[in-house]
Amino acid sequence: MIASLPDGEALQAVIVAANRGPVTFQTASDGSRTFTRGSGGLVTALIGLAGRMPITWIACARTEDDLNWGEGNVTLDVGRKPATVGVNFLSPDPAAYDGYYNTIANPLLWFLQHSMWDLPLAPVIDRRTWQAWTEGYVVVNQLFADAITQQVRANREPTLVMLQDYHLYLTPRMVRSQMRPAERPSLLHFVHIPWPGTEYWRILPPAMRLAILDGLCAVDLLGFQTRADALNFMRTCEAYLPRASIKFGKGRVWYRNHATHIREFPISIDVKRLNLFSQSVQVAELRTDLERQLMGQQVILRIERTEPSKNIVRGFQAFEEMLETHPEHQKQVTFVAILVPSRLDVPEYRTYLDAIMAIAGRVNARYATHEWEPIRLLIGESYPRAVAAMQLYDVLLVNSIADGMNLVAKEGPIANRRAGVLVLSESTGAREELEGGAIVISPCDVHATAEALHEGLTMPLDERERRAALLREVVQRNDISNWLDNQLQAAVRLKLKGAVG
Ligand code: G6P
Repeated sequence: MIASLPDGEALQAVIVAANRGPVTFQTASDGSRTFTRGSGGLVTALIGLAGRMPITWIACARTEDDLNWGEGNVTLDVGRKPATVGVNFLSPDPAAYDGYYNTIANPLLWFLQHSMWDLPLAPVIDRRTWQAWTEGYVVVNQLFADAITQQVRANREPTLVMLQDYHLYLTPRMVRSQMRPAERPSLLHFVHIPWPGTEYWRILPPAMRLAILDGLCAVDLLGFQTRADALNFMRTCEAYLPRASIKFGKGRVWYRNHATHIREFPISIDVKRLNLFSQSVQVAELRTDLERQLMGQQVILRIERTEPSKNIVRGFQAFEEMLETHPEHQKQVTFVAILVPSRLDVPEYRTYLDAIMAIAGRVNARYATHEWEPIRLLIGESYPRAVAAMQLYDVLLVNSIADGMNLVAKEGPIANRRAGVLVLSESTGAREELEGGAIVISPCDVHATAEALHEGLTMPLDERERRAALLREVVQRNDISNWLDNQLQAAVRLKLKGAVG
């Protein structure tokens, strides 16, 4: 089956390969098997693809029920009409998965790419890290490569393989090496997180660094969130990939007799879908409930996984400073923090969750009254509640230390109904598109963040409305369909096999 792109170009079979699947299965209390959609920007973005063309999604099983389910089709509501996705859950050996996910992907690569390592003390790349690399990361990447190879061979038509993120840096080379040129699929890889400058890559031992660059230079089209990330990647190849020839102007790395084309494709949200959902009865009920609890207070909001790169602790420190230097906000403003526990098998994430709890407790202990709790923590994942809260904020705080894009910064202005102000870290990918309408801060500058919160809360209505309209317009203009179309059209322009004009 051939699916059409908007300008009449066409595309054949597509395989998505990502650590996270589009759904997670659970057994309900009556014994029936149900599934929920996977969380995170990656899943949100790629599910849109399923509504437009037949896809097979290869991912790691996350639950016992995923494992038991194994492989088959699931039907998802993707906004316009239901879509069927072929899902293939891989079941790596638990020890291999642990090394791959909990030692190498998170934290080693994640912390490196978000510039978060405290170098005098960490990371410590010891015998166990090397074991996690060879017996975990390499093994799980090979498992993906084998599943992709098998699926490509089973497809009768030329196939595009869309690999995702830092979990699968080695898979492309493995696929290329184990398939004959005539049967090879076209390989696309999109890196959802920042690609830092060359110096940061020195943290990795040369053998790991080389394997990662060699792996990524086996793809045909390599996508990043921003121009800066794409440039940093090419500079990293120039610095560490022997015999690579880099054409910065053309966005091309020539290596091992193969061209990898480097492009930026800023990811976004499904605006139509969010608008529809935002008008649902479920969201309205949750909003009424929240409004009752907030008793007419102004609202500062943040929504994230409990993730060190999101800079949640400094956000609370900034709120504390604002209450101190602008005491008129005391008893008038509530900071609502919707936090989804994340990656708690990784010690750094557990420590960070403790730090969040400690600072929130300290601020509340210092300022709370009988009627007013300054910081309200809402822990746990509920997308409807998050959308209800987005409708209500006066200020949305996104102060990440580093962030590939940050989709909350794009969802907020679409859902919000109060002409709320966006306070946005200069170190997010979203800054490139949204800085005109946001108050931009430097993420370590707690003082400036406190002042930005104050400015947002006291900004005249006409200025708030002007900025809110601008943000909405920017997000609407580049929504998720553009992210997909731009990648697929680039594949067509590059005449990649499987993308036919
Ligand atoms: C980020 C990453 C994704 C990841 C998501 C959730 O957005 O770029 O690859 O899926 O976080 O993280 P998790 O580890 O829970 O899948």
